[in-house]
Amino acid sequence: MKAAILGTGSWACAFGKHLAHKWDRVVLWGIEPEQIHVINTTGTNPAYLGEVPLPPNLRATLDLEECLSGADALFVIVPSQAVRTVMEQVAAVAALPDPAPVICLAKGFEVDTLKRLSEVIQDVLGPPEAPGNHPVAVLLGPSHAEEVAREFPTAVVLSGTPGADWAHWQHEIAGPFFRVYTNDDMAGVEIASGFKNIIALAVGMADGLGTGDNTRGVLMTRGLKELARLGVALGARTETFFGLAGVGDMITTCISHHSRNRNFGEAVTRGDLSPEALLGEQVQVVEGVPMAKAALKLGMKHGIELPVTRQVHDVLFSGKPPRQAMRELMERQLRDELE
Ligand SMILES: NC(=O)c1ccc[n+]([C@@H]2O[C@H](COP(=O)([O-])OP(=O)(O)OC[C@H]3O[C@@H](n4cnc5c(N)ncnc54)[C@H](O)[C@@H]3O)[C@@H](O)[C@H]2O)c1
Repeated sequence: MKAAILGTGSWACAFGKHLAHKWDRVVLWGIEPEQIHVINTTGTNPAYLGEVPLPPNLRATLDLEECLSGADALFVIVPSQAVRTVMEQVAAVAALPDPAPVICLAKGFEVDTLKRLSEVIQDVLGPPEAPGNHPVAVLLGPSHAEEVAREFPTAVVLSGTPGADWAHWQHEIAGPFFRVYTNDDMAGVEIASGFKNIIALAVGMADGLGTGDNTRGVLMTRGLKELARLGVALGARTETFFGLAGVGDMITTCISHHSRNRNFGEAVTRGDLSPEALLGEQVQVVEGVPMAKAALKLGMKHGIELPVTRQVHDVLFSGKPPRQAMRELMERQLRDELE
């Protein structure tokens, strides 16, 4: 079995390392020559994963055709806003064999179109039900690259377009420390894990104010509630928000010292630099920032109130002080919890 992976960052390398224990060959495609050289010559990716050794059957290349040729499946692990561009390159090269599935591990929405990433992939490659086209899935959930690379027990959700044998791919991808569940609510899985980074930013901002566990608890719970409300308006099922891609990923991201979204929120509150200047300093993508824009636009389009998202958005893009954002959240009109 050969896996083609788009991306050479932290998640691409950690997931590739996992697959390389089971599959014969894993080929990562990237755009950074220096990073590819380092992966191939040192068997590590120090900029993203420290000294964790990568297996010898994992290689990286700048040549997209070499990556795609003969692949049994394609895994997309680049930042959300780059997914359309890289898929256009995949389509132009036309080297991915039929009927290899395309499985997206990137989290988020495309901000310009407000589409889920699986929809972006289908826009570019064509509908999976058309003859010769590729089935599309997402593989999402609480999965910090740093911990998967160190083989800590992890579980994720595989959710794909109808008609493909996803139970087969569930078994091909799962491993002794990497458990894979299926869930046919693809919209719910993508919305829950795409937008939980916004709540992680909120928790980080609160942590920066010096608030405690009560505040973390309320932001996570009410944050999940508003994401579920938005998800249902977009056709998702509520139960998915209480699964791995929802509450699972939310807890992991909001409490973890690995979470760059939580850490970014905290740095914004500390006020060392503006959000734009902080983003400029980041080596790794902070997906919650573009997602705050996308979720708010979707909420407005569908008439769904998103109080936590609104405050995160205003801190990031309108210069609202985090202390004022917290006060405004607390002073909202009192209401019933289950409304
Ligand atoms: N890191 C994690 O723990 C983790 C876990 C689950 C999901 N994810 C998701 O995976 C995606 C990638 O995250 P990451 O942590 O690996 O990011 P990263 O910043 O570590 O790496 C991003 C990679 O994408 C490449 N890239 C950026 N722009 C590109 C473009 N226009 N064309 C081609 N390649 C491009 C970069 O060269 C780099 O190799 C994100 O959507 C993230 O939310 C990350």
